[in-house]
Amino acid sequence: MCGIIGYLGNKDAYPILMKGLHRLEYRGYDSAGIALLQSDKINIYKCQGKVCELEKYCEDKNLSGITGIAHTRWATHGEPNDVNAHPHFSSDGRTALIHNGIIENYQALKTELINRGYVFQSDTDTEVLIHLIEDIKKVGNNELPEAVRLALSQVVGTYAIIVMSVDDPNTLVVARKGSPLIIGFGQNEYYIASDGSALVEYTDKVVYLKNEEMAVLTKGDDIRIKTIKNKNRPHYIEKLEMTLSELEKGGYEHFMLKEIFEQPRSVADSMRGRLNSVKEIVALGGIVEYEEHLLRARRIIIVACGTSYHAGLVAEYMFEDLIRIPVEVEYASEFRYRNPIIYSDDVVIAISQSGETADTLAAIELARQKGATVLGICNVVGSSIARATHAGSYTHAGPEIGVASTKAFTAQVTVLTLMALCMAKRKGKISKTRYATIINELESIPRKIKTILDSNDLMKEIAAYMKQFNNALYLGRNYNYPVALEGALKLKEISYIHAEGYPAAEMKHGPIALIDEDMPVVVIATTNGTYDKVVSNIQEVKTRKGKIISIVTQGDTDVRNLSDYVIEIPETEEMLVPLLATVPLQLLAYHVAVMRGRNVDQPRNLAKSVTVE
Ligand code: AGP
Ligand code: GLU
Repeated sequence: MCGIIGYLGNKDAYPILMKGLHRLEYRGYDSAGIALLQSDKINIYKCQGKVCELEKYCEDKNLSGITGIAHTRWATHGEPNDVNAHPHFSSDGRTALIHNGIIENYQALKTELINRGYVFQSDTDTEVLIHLIEDIKKVGNNELPEAVRLALSQVVGTYAIIVMSVDDPNTLVVARKGSPLIIGFGQNEYYIASDGSALVEYTDKVVYLKNEEMAVLTKGDDIRIKTIKNKNRPHYIEKLEMTLSELEKGGYEHFMLKEIFEQPRSVADSMRGRLNSVKEIVALGGIVEYEEHLLRARRIIIVACGTSYHAGLVAEYMFEDLIRIPVEVEYASEFRYRNPIIYSDDVVIAISQSGETADTLAAIELARQKGATVLGICNVVGSSIARATHAGSYTHAGPEIGVASTKAFTAQVTVLTLMALCMAKRKGKISKTRYATIINELESIPRKIKTILDSNDLMKEIAAYMKQFNNALYLGRNYNYPVALEGALKLKEISYIHAEGYPAAEMKHGPIALIDEDMPVVVIATTNGTYDKVVSNIQEVKTRKGKIISIVTQGDTDVRNLSDYVIEIPETEEMLVPLLATVPLQLLAYHVAVMRGRNVDQPRNLAKSVTVE
């Protein structure tokens, strides 16, 4: 996915756009570009590389202009290079456009436009859009907004676009479908961006454009919103729920470390107003109208990607254990294409930090088409997934900037725990004692996470040992199996060490062949129902000279005696262990990546939210 930003107002656009690109860079950083409108032309500066490369490139350029657009790219069509960087421009250079999304039918449109004599500069799908707009404007003698609307009517795919033209110097035309776009209101000025982080220091008055809507922003005029099908739409100005300080690193070296250390607060925030341990009440306001659907559900299907998928796996164990409803957890990217059986009395839960993941959005659309009830668990207010579901709960973890998801995971698991408790109580599937115990334990989790964070130096010591290896195995059973998967994902995505998560017992069915003195094995071996079995698995590794790094419950001795390194975590209810055991694995991955000199917040090839397939 990309980051897009636009400004239309009375101030110099360049500094606003450039600062906005830095805020949005987590969304993709293959190349970056900016277009500034002068009285009679558009100056476009763009180059491969990060936003700082673009800044260097712009140093000796004419940067004047009070209207402009800018883009930081995550390539889908056309390799990352100068020519494929956005903005793209019309043949006469009078109109420029930036885009986040995929034009799926771009090849057919491109062929048609080439046949009409258009010459393409780039290999991107995006460039088709600007020439299509140009063509419709010219041939049909259409004004810019109408030309944009008619062009988008021919597009199959996803988009969040900003279009600027010398012929309409006081206007920007924006539109979205499937990719996010937010419009901020200043003093007779408009700020447009992919998300609120690029607007928050200028305004908290925003409009979230809905899917297949476009807006015409003209200086001195009120915003005009219509659908791509040409139906006028009212607009509702909302308050942007984000503060500038949340976006700063707060003295930490990386956003990821800041977000790991924010977890005592973010887990507490995800419970705030939803858990009353004194009255033993659990309530998720966002889904209260759909509790009956959950009670009557034939099955719960969880769809998600990456870390959010791992949170879904924890929920599977919890929901089946507490509510006794069958649960299936699916990779959204698989679910959407395998023609799944979905019943109208199924409840689908979509989990997504960004709320913009294309595969998860598509899975939601499929489930809704088949009549299922779809609930969402998102971290970004007003995100596409939050708007595409029937109802849902926000995780309230605050902006997660680091590409590797950390506090979002523990917030997701917390909200899913609340959902499980609430439904188990309503279904009468949980004893009063167990219900009260779990509620009280849940309330103590933020404090217990803080205890774990105090052992950060031990994680650094273990990381200094682990950084030398090129492979790692993570093992866990039951509730700790998703933790093993999540720990492995953290390590591989930021340190580039190949790491695999596995059910501990499954190791004997293949991966045990990998065990030797060059294979560090991280085992989550907390005291629970399968503890003795995990101890046997550890012994199987030891006899093959594997190195053991274990996560144990405070006071453990058996596993300690078998381990090369031991990380203790406070005791808690078995189903809440993922909220604690994941934290040392986040720190371990972070320190290994730093020691390996990796770009921790923006690992190679990755983007924070994958809004394309
Ligand atoms: C996790 O660390 C990764 N960045 C990635 O797997 C992420 O969890 C996945 O892309 C899903 O993102 P979402 O939660 O925003 O939908
Ligand atoms: N498809 C466009 C390109 O490759 C935009 C990519 C994106 O939104 O990630 O340039």
